Formats: sequence, C-alpha cells, structure tokens
Amino acid sequence: MAALPTTISKVTTHVLQEMKQKGEKIAMLTAYDFSMARILDRVDIDAILVGDSASNVMAGHRTTIPITLNEMIYHGASVVRAVSRALVIVDLPFGTYQGNSKEALNSAIRIMKETGADAVKLEGGREITESIDRILSAGIPVMGHLGLTPQSINKFGTYTVRATENEEAQRLIEDAHILEKTGCFAIVLEKIPAKLAAQVTSELKIPIIGIGAGGNVDGQVLVLHDMLGITTQFSPRFLRRYHNLSHEISLAVKEYIGDVKSKDFPNETEQY
Ligand code: KIV
Repeated sequence: MAALPTTISKVTTHVLQEMKQKGEKIAMLTAYDFSMARILDRVDIDAILVGDSASNVMAGHRTTIPITLNEMIYHGASVVRAVSRALVIVDLPFGTYQGNSKEALNSAIRIMKETGADAVKLEGGREITESIDRILSAGIPVMGHLGLTPQSINKFGTYTVRATENEEAQRLIEDAHILEKTGCFAIVLEKIPAKLAAQVTSELKIPIIGIGAGGNVDGQVLVLHDMLGITTQFSPRFLRRYHNLSHEISLAVKEYIGDVKSKDFPNETEQY
C-alpha cells in the first residue's frame, strides 16, 4: 500500500494531488492563531486554511468583507510560526485582487513574503483568471473557491445553497474547468448540491475540497471554531460539531471566577 500522509514531513500541493490520485481524503480546517494551528499540525491535519472567516470568528464582523490584507498577514504569520507539516493557505481578502491583476500579484507577494505561507486562495471563476494567472506567474500556488463565495454576499443577498438552478450549475462547472486550466492546484466548493460537487470532482484532475458539498469530493474543510462549538450562533446542515467548547469554556471560567471570589485561588502551592 502507498505511504500514508502521516509519514510525510511536509504536505505540499503535489502531496494533495497524489492524495486525490490514490483516493485518500484530504482533511483541512481553518486556523487563525499560533496556539490552535500548533494543535492541528501536531495531529497531522493535511492543510490549514487561514480563512478570511477570521473576519467573523476572530474580529466579530458580520461578513468577511471588512478584514484587511494586514490583518490576514498577521493571522497567516501566526499560523505559519506554529506549523511544520501541514500545507498553509492564506485567503486574499476582499478588495485586494478583484479587477486589478497587478494589485492581486502585489497582495499575494505580500502574503507569501510576510507570512511564509505555502499558497493563497481567491474567490471566483472566469472573472479573476487574469489575477490568478499573474499570481501563478510569480510561482505562487493558487487555490480557487466557487459556489457560495462569502466575499460576494452583497451580490447573493443570502448565505443559501448556490447552483441549485441549471444555469448557475453549468456556469460553476465551466468555472471549475477554467480554474484548473489556469493552473489552480485545488478548488474549494462551498455550499452547493452534493451531486454537482461530485460531478466537478470526477471531471477535474485537481483536488476538490468541499464545505457543505457532500461526501463525493476529495476532501473536507470546516471552520475550526464552528466544528469545536466555540461559535454557537451558526448551525448550517453541513456543520458537524465535534465538541461544545463554548459550554466547556464557560464552565471553566465560572469556576475560576468562583475560586477568585472565594479566595480559594491561589492557594499555598500556587504562589512564591
Ligand atoms: O474563509 C474561510 O474560512 C473559507 C472556508 C469556509 C472555505 O473560505
């Protein structure tokens, strides 16, 4: 049997490609800080996405629109400092690549230079191929993102499932082929019908990572704070919660408050 990814000292874009060829599923999660990224890397997560969902999860914004390039660089660099094995991909935030390929290249170069990440991710299809092409020409690997692309929330008006109608589904299939042809090493498909995601996965040679796109894709990604139950206000059907950390943290903090107020903390052994 072929080597398992746990024997790999550093996951590269080529490793993900090989995993697709071997039918090995790719496990990806988001992370935005050193401590969490270190935990994920130590248990051999394949890829870490420093997603612009940091805008929601870390900064408390309603959408991903406000997060800046400098803020993404701060999160990316924090994650990279913790990681030795996983492939680290950093999102290019809204307004740093759409419509101007030179600006896109400059943004991607800043991310690569100032974070040490392995790749960048951009949302969109045919309308951003010039930007992708220019970033790739500098030797920077690019991950695509189609379906529900949260940076376009003001165009969509809702976070509902995308591409349920034939016209949008056909466009998504075409865009996926365009992204592959342009040179993306992988594509995230977010919140689209499972059947459509399966079709794209079987037609494309590059890995397809799904979030709310069913099981017949090459890998899965979830937002770490959602799957750990740190965030509780967001419960889409696709989200499997592996823990209720919000509850656990509340209990621990309440206990601490009680111990401080009752003068139980610190005790004799907890002082100098
Ligand atoms: O920003 C993010 O976390 C993402 C994932 C939802 C794929 O793009």
